[in-house]
Amino acid sequence: VGNARFGDAAGLTLYQRVAMRVQGLVDGGTLRPGERIPSVRRLAAQLGVSVTTVLEAYRLLEDRGVIEARPQSGYYVRPQHRTPPLPRKTEGARSATTLDVGEMILRVVNEATQPDVVCLGAAVGSLEFFPTARLNRELARAVRAEPERSLAYDAVQGHEELRVQIARRALEAGLSLTPEDLVTTPGAQSAMYLCLRAVTEPGDTVAIETPTYYGLLEILESLHLRALEIATFPETGICLDALGEALAARRVAACALVPTFGNPLGHCMPDEKKRRLVELLARHEVPLVEDDVFGDLAFGVSRPRAAKAFDGEGNVLWCSSFSKTLSPGYRIGWAAPGRYLSAVMRLKFAAQVAAPTPPQMAVARFLEGGGFDRHLRRLRRAYRELTLRMSSAIAECFPSGTRISRPAGGQVLWIELPENVDAMRLHDAALAAGVSIAPGPIFSASRRYRSFIRINVATPWSPSVERAIATLGRLVHEALDGEVTARRA
Ligand SMILES: Cc1ncc(COP(=O)(O)O)c(C=O)c1O
Repeated sequence: VGNARFGDAAGLTLYQRVAMRVQGLVDGGTLRPGERIPSVRRLAAQLGVSVTTVLEAYRLLEDRGVIEARPQSGYYVRPQHRTPPLPRKTEGARSATTLDVGEMILRVVNEATQPDVVCLGAAVGSLEFFPTARLNRELARAVRAEPERSLAYDAVQGHEELRVQIARRALEAGLSLTPEDLVTTPGAQSAMYLCLRAVTEPGDTVAIETPTYYGLLEILESLHLRALEIATFPETGICLDALGEALAARRVAACALVPTFGNPLGHCMPDEKKRRLVELLARHEVPLVEDDVFGDLAFGVSRPRAAKAFDGEGNVLWCSSFSKTLSPGYRIGWAAPGRYLSAVMRLKFAAQVAAPTPPQMAVARFLEGGGFDRHLRRLRRAYRELTLRMSSAIAECFPSGTRISRPAGGQVLWIELPENVDAMRLHDAALAAGVSIAPGPIFSASRRYRSFIRINVATPWSPSVERAIATLGRLVHEALDGEVTARRA
């Protein structure tokens, strides 16, 4: 164990790093299924960490189904353990693309949320996970306590008490912001839209990771921007060498990324890489529009820092929301646009005048009342367990050759199917069978990822979810069999 590499573990706690190290030995074949792994005491002594730390790491690996404890005997790699391989590093595009994917995306998004469908398609948390009753109570109390204010236009910049609360929470992401640095918006999507509009002109090129969140592609298309897809690592995000080359070769107006628990890859860019990213972009005077909507959903103990934490020049426009942690329907998002603050405020005024007042009042009161951190801890634990469970179920039901992402936070899994499976056809067949999935091509400006799908894990585990995964597995097998038959014919 002593010689194994720690990997790209920045931002993880000690026990997670120990777990990663042991998992690395299992994945790399040093420790094989059925074999005994070092005892807790021995590993603790070898690594110079406490017995408790190793115990916690082993517990995490037990949860993940990687190892098992055998009474009186120690810990063993589970005999049936099979780690599905990760999706491969993606390739960038040679040139910027004009977008024509908006209609396809909207069709798929509308279908994903139909009633009577097991919704594995949209990255939406099931309402059971949110403190719905308390939030709605705060809404009722807020409008009762301040009826006139609740009906009035809010300030263009946004509800002040809410901005105070957001600035306090931003400390967790490594940011020292004042309420004056923030603008509230109806959701992170609106924040991204306004920020991108503030730093670009129609026809400009925006560098993005690939695959990327389809909502971002919608924004680029509607602002008549061109997308430059940059090669991306499945665990740590955009390839900085490739980005550096792209910036040196052509004019890029902005870079738009989801560096922390990206969608769909679930990757987390380590702190040091975030620092280098921010430096690289500042050197080329290219603003970074950072979508941090999943940042609070870390599976580990601490929340990773935002890329904006490394920004000394106001060059990073930080965007996020409470859609993934409190309620998507309240539409509470924000931006800290750095030196573009006044441009973003003017655009907000032009598009919205102000954000709706009552939900802002309610969320401000909710945060003031405390308990958000406790709620987040529960949510993170639930999503971590669901991610592992869903990943194991997929590994069991899908054909060999399937690759599955290993997110350290967030709520989605990115799945690379055997290459003959057409994800758009699979999407249609799954929908007919009552299951929605997000097909790969909607995550690309150039409709790549033909044989990839994204699965939302944020729905309570139940027999119907289990059946939905089994149905998907059957459809993927059938698609493969069909392909084999068609080739033989
Ligand atoms: C990466 C990313 N950004 C933004 C959004 C939209 O967030 P909001 O509902 O706050 O507008 C989503 C929703 O799925 C998302 O996945």
